[in-house]
Amino acid sequence: MPDVTDDALRLLAADAEDPIEIAIEGSLRPRSLDEYIGQREVKANLGVLLSAARARDEAADHVLLFGPPGLGKTTLATIIARELGVNVRYTSGPAIERPGDLAAVLTSLDERDVLFIDEIHRLNHAVEEVLYPAMEDYALDVMIGKGPSARSLRLTLKPFTVVGATTRAGRISSPLRDRFGATYRLDFYTETELTEIVERSARILGVEIDPGAAAAIARRGRGTPRIVNRLLKRVRDHAEVHGDGRVDELTATDAMRLLEIDDEGLDSTDRKLLAAIVQKFGSGPVGVAALAAVLSEEVETIEDVYEPFLLRLGFLDRTPQGRIATDLARAHLAGLGYEIPPARRAEPDMSSLWLDEPGAGNR
Ligand code: ADE
Repeated sequence: MPDVTDDALRLLAADAEDPIEIAIEGSLRPRSLDEYIGQREVKANLGVLLSAARARDEAADHVLLFGPPGLGKTTLATIIARELGVNVRYTSGPAIERPGDLAAVLTSLDERDVLFIDEIHRLNHAVEEVLYPAMEDYALDVMIGKGPSARSLRLTLKPFTVVGATTRAGRISSPLRDRFGATYRLDFYTETELTEIVERSARILGVEIDPGAAAAIARRGRGTPRIVNRLLKRVRDHAEVHGDGRVDELTATDAMRLLEIDDEGLDSTDRKLLAAIVQKFGSGPVGVAALAAVLSEEVETIEDVYEPFLLRLGFLDRTPQGRIATDLARAHLAGLGYEIPPARRAEPDMSSLWLDEPGAGNR
């Protein structure tokens, strides 16, 4: 199981450049619920769940975390383990290919350990079947032999806690969902929370930053701690190269302009997506598959990575007919100098409102 790695190494696997960078990113992550900024309700509920498990001297209930990428699902899994005083193992749905892979991980867990399964919606069916009794009864059903003489042997596992993470709860099969004792939805962070996170990270990194600069980074951080922390590091580079290392608002906004992050925090891919809807599809509606083809992106990436924040900004609407770029998005692009052709969508048909309404004929 080479995909199960421990602690800090997994944390930045996606953009691991060098070990120092990984260690720094790891050091920015809060290590306890107390240090964790934002997600107030999740923190409060999780705090109760963990205290109760500790008081009963039991493994905590299985926890399902869902929400867009970068909002702290892995961080929370690490915190859960720390708060319980146990180890955490990290793996992911696609990494567990066969039931035997899962069995190997499960049998290696110590009493009450946390098993973090990222992208849990991507577990295959055969693996899920092994996970059900493991989660429900701490039991591992092993098949011995083949053909008519094959029989099943039930092994007992040490109690453990699964922390599952997914970008969308709706993708998880209902038998799997039913096995989680608690499900928490992570939402985008407010600008105030992100400002606090930037200031905390700057302290850890030893960067002198003024409040206006922290707020400017937070404003462009797409509601996502991982993004503000990345922006902070790029802004720090800029301040060191072009100035004395101190970060003021002008340095921060200059750096982000160079990175092609606009005032709403959109990057070039976000703008390409909106511009495609506006310019190629008359502002929509357009199906996500057509958009994916135009942008050479996976449908899943568009749905999970780009759309959630555009929806939240009110730049995008999802309708049964397809995606629509809103007037707000059109105005934003126009402000950046994009050509904005007339919207193709028809005015909503209001006639039925009048026809169906009793007494409408009297007006
Ligand atoms: N760094 C990344 N996410 C954080 C959070 N939620 N709170 C504090 N620091 C963070």
